[in-house]
Amino acid sequence: MEWRRRLSPAAALAFAVAWMAVLVAPGFAGDPYAYFDWDVSFITAAPLGVKQQVIGINGQFPGPIVNVTTNWNLVVNVLNDLDEPLLITWNGIQQRKNSWQDGVLGTNCPIPSGWNWTYQFQVKDQIGSFFYFPSINFQRAAGGYGGIIVNNRDVIAVPFDKPDGDITLFIGDWYNKDYKDLRKALDNGKDLGMPDGVLMNGKGPYRYNKTLVPDGIEHETIHVHPGKTYRFRVHNVGISTSLNFRIQNHNMLLVETEGSYTVQQNYTNLDMHVGQSYSFLVTMDQNASSDYYIVASARFVNESRWTRVTGVAILQYSNSKGKASGPLPDPPNDFYDKTFSMNQAKSIRWNLSSGAARPNPQGSFRYGSINVSQVYVLENKPPVVINGKHRTALNGISYSPPETPLRLADEYKLKGIYTLDFPTRPHKGAPKIGRSLINGTYRGFMEIIFQNNHTKVHTYHLDGYAFFVVGMDYGEWTEASRGSYNKGDGVARCSTQVFPGAWTAILVSLDNVGIWNLRAQNLDSWYLGQEVYIRVVNPEDTNKTELPVPDNALYCGSLQKYQNEQTPHHKKASSAPVTHLTNKLLMLMLLLVSAFMLP
Ligand SMILES: *[C@@H]1O[C@H](CO)[C@@H](O)[C@H](O)[C@H]1NC(C)=O
Ligand SMILES: *[C@@H]1O[C@H](CO)[C@@H](O)[C@H](O)[C@H]1NC(C)=O
Ligand SMILES: *[C@@H]1O[C@H](CO)[C@@H](O)[C@H](O)[C@H]1NC(C)=O
Ligand SMILES: *[C@@H]1O[C@H](CO)[C@@H](O)[C@H](O)[C@H]1NC(C)=O
Ligand SMILES: *[C@@H]1O[C@H](CO)[C@@H](O)[C@H](O)[C@H]1NC(C)=O
Ligand SMILES: *[C@@H]1O[C@H](CO)[C@@H](O)[C@H](O)[C@H]1NC(C)=O
Ligand SMILES: *[C@@H]1O[C@H](CO)[C@@H](O)[C@H](O)[C@H]1NC(C)=O
Ligand SMILES: *[C@@H]1O[C@H](CO)[C@@H](O)[C@H](O)[C@H]1NC(C)=O
Ligand SMILES: *[C@@H]1O[C@H](CO)[C@@H](O)[C@H](O)[C@H]1NC(C)=O
Ligand SMILES: *[C@@H]1O[C@H](CO)[C@@H](O)[C@H](O)[C@H]1NC(C)=O
Ligand SMILES: *[C@@H]1O[C@H](CO)[C@@H](O)[C@H](O)[C@H]1NC(C)=O
Repeated sequence: MEWRRRLSPAAALAFAVAWMAVLVAPGFAGDPYAYFDWDVSFITAAPLGVKQQVIGINGQFPGPIVNVTTNWNLVVNVLNDLDEPLLITWNGIQQRKNSWQDGVLGTNCPIPSGWNWTYQFQVKDQIGSFFYFPSINFQRAAGGYGGIIVNNRDVIAVPFDKPDGDITLFIGDWYNKDYKDLRKALDNGKDLGMPDGVLMNGKGPYRYNKTLVPDGIEHETIHVHPGKTYRFRVHNVGISTSLNFRIQNHNMLLVETEGSYTVQQNYTNLDMHVGQSYSFLVTMDQNASSDYYIVASARFVNESRWTRVTGVAILQYSNSKGKASGPLPDPPNDFYDKTFSMNQAKSIRWNLSSGAARPNPQGSFRYGSINVSQVYVLENKPPVVINGKHRTALNGISYSPPETPLRLADEYKLKGIYTLDFPTRPHKGAPKIGRSLINGTYRGFMEIIFQNNHTKVHTYHLDGYAFFVVGMDYGEWTEASRGSYNKGDGVARCSTQVFPGAWTAILVSLDNVGIWNLRAQNLDSWYLGQEVYIRVVNPEDTNKTELPVPDNALYCGSLQKYQNEQTPHHKKASSAPVTHLTNKLLMLMLLLVSAFMLP
């Protein structure tokens, strides 16, 4: 490891980054490969002025942006340098035929501390803006997330002019408490309480108000040029707070959400719920008489109590005449009007004529004319106590992951790991802890209605698929509610919000074989058991509709005996990046480079 002593970590990282870009070369199968080496470790940061342990990737928080194109193959070698198991999930990446790479406990054994595991998957037939994050142990509350951009192939037109820049913004509520203390609080039946703030790209608010924001907090600044148009990809990566996002004096033209091009419309602000992603085009059409505020404020809360929970970044024109000052742009004034946010959600529609991942227009899949084959009404209720434990449930079942991943259990024909009797309708009796799955019919068309009996907005996310959001309303869903469905241009996406006391209906075509996680993205609800899996099996005996178990699969639980021990990588004291670059070519290159750098 001679090179390590000769190159500073920063220089090594610079070379590594340069090298990774070079490694993007056409693979044998025709579609290019992109390689990444990630060291996931704790780093110290103080986003809100309080020093704490956050999860970084190669020393960065937020993690690096994965910028690829439709059908590329990704090879991501993840080294778990945390002190507990880790899994990274690729939120919104459909993992076609390949739930093996989904990075949730139903499909993968967690990567033990000190081990590495290499994900390999193709971003097949997808475009859009997504993000990845650690999926277990409440780790997302400590960071570990980053962006995924899947660009259109050159042969497919994007439905707007090429923007002058591409800016990713992570917004999300944040606690100064360590994530392990937060999850302990949840285990002990406590509420998380009010967050300490909202971060933007891992940084605290700009000091727009000297009373509210203490001195010495680093904020995010977005540098722009007058007259130019930028694509903002905004992700709510928080724990459980719905946020209203807005940019002072600027219209935000919504163009894409979670892999679908939308009908392009201007918004002055947009509600973004936990786990949701949106792309806007923003034209720098102002005077630059000053900098402008970029704001993400807590939604559906008593604003005078929650002022602290506001993220503020700065939009700075290159010809700006001064600092942003004065009050933040107003949030929607609708404390007593529950319909504003829902109407806004319903206004987000699919652009039927636009191409996306495939040359044919998005709208050529006429979901409104397909007969539904299975219906599930899933009800969310406030947390309950089950066997003395504080838990959350869907239809009265609070999911508890078995030691053996569901998909591996199937592969090895293990019995008794789970049942396939998930209730199709809300449950009346006492809730229980269970491992009950939804039995999805391969090539069937499933209708799922989320009924939110809780007092907080929830977001639900489905792995493996994009679904159509066809209906949303207050009150109890009934069969008659179908009359109000949008059968034409409901947007296809991977997450949807469900308002309190309201329902949201989605339709999904079950054409992707595997076992797929359906979860509350609200981290507290998810952590306490609000998830289920949909099992989709092709009854025909073929190896064409699902990829085989990867050679490097990790084994655990009842299958532990198949696992070869890995020698834990020895840890370095610091969180210096590139501690574990394993690519032999890279090593060679660094050695050569460092040789030249010797005095
Ligand atoms: C992503 O990569 C493409 C080239 O493949 C490049 O044009 C684009 O600027 C990159 N985007 C970001 C955000 O780095
Ligand atoms: C861990 O990394 C090494 C070196 O890159 C690689 O050979 C090995 O396959 C990885 N292990 C797994 C389980 O992915
Ligand atoms: C700063 O915030 C405090 C508390 O919300 C408020 O009372 C005060 O008016 C604000 N100051 C300015 C300059 O806006
Ligand atoms: C959106 O707003 C911008 C001004 O900020 C305007 O130029 C544009 O025409 C609007 N687009 C639509 C589709 O309303
Ligand atoms: C631009 O500046 C001029 C003169 O300073 C002012 O009258 C006008 O209102 C400003 N326009 C915008 C959009 O801020
Ligand atoms: C919001 O909280 C403040 C301070 O706790 C309280 O005085 C006010 O009545 C609350 N407003 C509403 C609408 O609940
Ligand atoms: C829909 O997409 C087409 C490209 O196929 C584009 O020309 C059109 O402007 C888009 N329409 C809207 C309303 O966004
Ligand atoms: C849907 O069901 C109706 C009535 O059961 C049937 O007539 C129709 O052909 C079906 N449509 C499709 C596309 O299968
Ligand atoms: C699951 O659904 C399939 C049809 O897709 C059916 O053949 C099978 O019997 C079901 N299994 C159970 C346990 O209900
Ligand atoms: C929850 O369900 C109960 C019983 O159906 C109903 O009375 C109550 O209004 C519901 N609450 C919400 C927030 O939906
Ligand atoms: C798939 O099955 C066919 C027929 O059984 C076999 O010839 C082929 O090698 C299999 N392919 C893979 C990738 O396992």
